[in-house]
Amino acid sequence: MKSILKYMILSILLIGCNLQKNRESEKQDFEAEKVKTISESAKKVRDYIKKDIVIAHRGSTYWTPEETEPAFLWARNIGADYLEFDVQLTKDSILIAFHDNDLSRTTNVSEVFPERVKSEINEFTLKELRRLDAGSWFNKAFPKRAKESYKDLKIMTLKDIMMIAEGNRILKKEGKPVKELIDGNWNGKYLYEIDPADNDNRPGIYIETKNPKPNTEKILAKEITAFGWNINSNPKQIKTNNGKVVIANTNARLILQSFSPESIIKLEHYLPNVPKCFLLWKPDMKGKIKEVYKSAIDFAIKNNVQIIGTSITGKPNYYKELTAPWMEELIHNAGMVIHPYTFDTNKQLKAYKDRVEGVFTNRADLALAFYNRKSEISSQDILMELGYK
Ligand code: G3P
Ligand code: CA
Repeated sequence: MKSILKYMILSILLIGCNLQKNRESEKQDFEAEKVKTISESAKKVRDYIKKDIVIAHRGSTYWTPEETEPAFLWARNIGADYLEFDVQLTKDSILIAFHDNDLSRTTNVSEVFPERVKSEINEFTLKELRRLDAGSWFNKAFPKRAKESYKDLKIMTLKDIMMIAEGNRILKKEGKPVKELIDGNWNGKYLYEIDPADNDNRPGIYIETKNPKPNTEKILAKEITAFGWNINSNPKQIKTNNGKVVIANTNARLILQSFSPESIIKLEHYLPNVPKCFLLWKPDMKGKIKEVYKSAIDFAIKNNVQIIGTSITGKPNYYKELTAPWMEELIHNAGMVIHPYTFDTNKQLKAYKDRVEGVFTNRADLALAFYNRKSEISSQDILMELGYK
C-alpha cells in the first residue's frame, strides 16, 4: 500500500514537472517567434534603401531587347531607380548580363555557333559572345516595337552597365562599338564615351547572381570594388543633380539578389553591409507552403538579408502568388521589406499598392507614372533621343 502511494506521489510530481517544462518550452517558442527579426545592423543597411522604388527589370523587356545597351540607357533616362540585371561568368571569368542558361532564346547562336546552341554561358569567352546578335530576335518576336537599330546589339558586361549608370555609353564609330585593344589584342571589351543623350539620372544597380558558378561572387565583389561601387571600400562620389535620380550616390547604390541560398551566403561573405534580396520562386518551394515560407524567412534573417523578392500573380505572367497578405505580414514582421517581381500592368501595380516597398518592372514608364513620377518624355521619344530609331 505504502509503495503504491509512493508511486502515485512520484507520478503526480513527474507530470507536474513535465507540464511546467512544456509550458516553458511553449513560452520560449512563442518568444522566439516574437523576436525573430533581422539584426540591428541589418536594419541599418535596410534603411539605406528608399521606399516605392522602381527597379527596371532587365532594363526593359517591353521596349527593347532585354539586358542590351538600349534597355539600360532607356531605363536610366526614363528615371528608374535601379537597373536590374542577371550576371553570369564567361569562360574567361568576365561578368556579363544575361538571363537564360543558354543563348538560344535571345541571340543568333544557332547561326554563329550551330554546334553550341545549348552550351552554357561559361563555355564561351567574352570575345565569342560579342560575335552574337542579341537584338534581332526581339524584332521578330515583337514586330510592333521592332527597330532597325536593334539589329546586332551586343551582350553587355557588368562594367558596361555600371558605366551607363554613371552617364556613359559604349563608344561607336560608324555604328560599330570601338574595341579596347591591349598590346594590339582584343579580349571582347569596348571603349566608352559620355552619352550625349544622358539626362543626369544616376540610378543604382540591382544585380542578380544567375546560375552562379564557383567564384562568381568573389569576382563580382572584386569588380564592384575596383569600380568604386562598394560602399565599404573607398566608394567614389558620383555627381548628382537635385530633381534627378540620385541613387548612385547613396549607400544603396548597389543591391544584390539571388534565388540561390548558397550564393546569398557567399555574397554576404564578400560584400557585407550591402543590401541583399533573397528571391523566392514557388516551384522551388517543396512541402507545406506555410512551413517552407517560414523557413525561407528564417534563412534570410540568419544571413543578414534585408529584402525578400517575391513573385506576384496576374496577367501576363501568371506567376504563383508569393505576396499574399499572410506572407507579406511574415516578411514585414521580421523587419524586412518586399520587392516583388514582375509588374507589367497598372492592374498589378494597384493590386499590391502600399503592401510592398519596391517593384521589379518591365514597364518602368508605367510604374513611374503610377508613383506620380511620370517621365516628361515618352518612351519612344527617349529611344529616339538615344539614337534608337
Ligand atoms: O530579379 C527579380 C527577377 O528578375 C527574378 O526573375 O527570372 O527575371 O531573373 P528573373
Ligand atoms: Ca533577375
